[in-house]
Amino acid sequence: METMEVDQLSKPSTSKTQEQSNKKHCNLPWIEKYRPQTFQEIVGNEDTITRLSIFSKQGNVPNVIIAGPPGVGKTTTILCLAKILLGSSFKDAVLELNASNDRGIDIVRNKVKMFAQQKVTLPPGRHKIIILDEVDSMTEGAQQALRRTMEIYSNTTRFALACNYSEKVIEAIQSRCAILRYSKLTDSQVLARTIQICEKENVKYTEDGLEAIVFTAQGDMRQALNNLQSTHNGFGEVNSQNVFKVCDEPHPMLIKDMLKNCTEGDIRKAYKIIEHLWNLGYAAEDIIKNIFKVCKNMDMDEPLKLAFIKEIGLTHQKIVDGLCSLLQMSGLLARLCKAGSKDRTA
Ligand SMILES: Nc1ncnc2c1ncn2[C@@H]1O[C@H](COP(=O)(O)OP(=O)(O)O)[C@@H](O)[C@H]1O
Ligand SMILES: [Mg+2]
Repeated sequence: METMEVDQLSKPSTSKTQEQSNKKHCNLPWIEKYRPQTFQEIVGNEDTITRLSIFSKQGNVPNVIIAGPPGVGKTTTILCLAKILLGSSFKDAVLELNASNDRGIDIVRNKVKMFAQQKVTLPPGRHKIIILDEVDSMTEGAQQALRRTMEIYSNTTRFALACNYSEKVIEAIQSRCAILRYSKLTDSQVLARTIQICEKENVKYTEDGLEAIVFTAQGDMRQALNNLQSTHNGFGEVNSQNVFKVCDEPHPMLIKDMLKNCTEGDIRKAYKIIEHLWNLGYAAEDIIKNIFKVCKNMDMDEPLKLAFIKEIGLTHQKIVDGLCSLLQMSGLLARLCKAGSKDRTA
């Protein structure tokens, strides 16, 4: 969601002196500065990217929808694809509309249609490309208006759509597109890229600092780079203390200790920790989300972990419904301790 305006910066810059572009780079957020420009640089989802890269060489690209979680390279992929296909004609032959543009029915009827009708001279086998980022935020009406355009101009224009949930794209559009699904990046993929950028930017970091970055990002590269840059700008050294301060998340070590106390059935110690977090002012929802993240990766007996996750999920649901008190949290701890002690007697 935070990409909206930033995405527009990423169009290939026209001829500028090196100095100017360096200057511009100084102020760029790292997510833009290090936005991959070619398919080879994009991390993860290899199968899909290889397939697209083959398409792009042949020039015969169908309409595509790329669906997947935030920050995994959907927009980047589409921009790379368009650049490879159109090269220097990118400026004339690409219409990019993302969620920050008005994309109601009228715009689709006028702007998109007008662009589709426009004549642009392109190498044989190439098409104009209409990029609609975050289509799932378009109203159904606007999507309906789109599908007709897609059909009528199919011999001159291709659509490249990106969304978080492909279900929110109307079926009529889905059936006119090849749907490519991206998954979250793995921790090691995020870590590797983070280290690369640390080296390029001369960031001082500790091992636990990078672990913290990866933990807070949960497979979202955009989040990882943003957190890295904020910690670097705010504190200098990237260590776990600083990262959790910047991200304002409860420190997972505390949560881990708390869950461990629960597996041992020690409600007193567990409660002390939750009370401490509560007094620090963390919101119930942030705490519960973190409890889940930590529990998911904890080294513990599998059936017990499942029992824990079930309780955590139920409590999360209550919190979302508005029951966010310390009492709810301690209720959760009591149930976890009970599950823990049942496990030990079994
Ligand atoms: N797979 C990836 N490989 C390398 N960098 C990535 C990847 N995914 C995201 N990024 C980084 O995060 C930024 C935002 O990615 P973007 O493609 O806009 O994500 P989204 O999937 O939300 O459209 C990029 O500019 C890049 O810096
Ligand atoms: Mg995007």
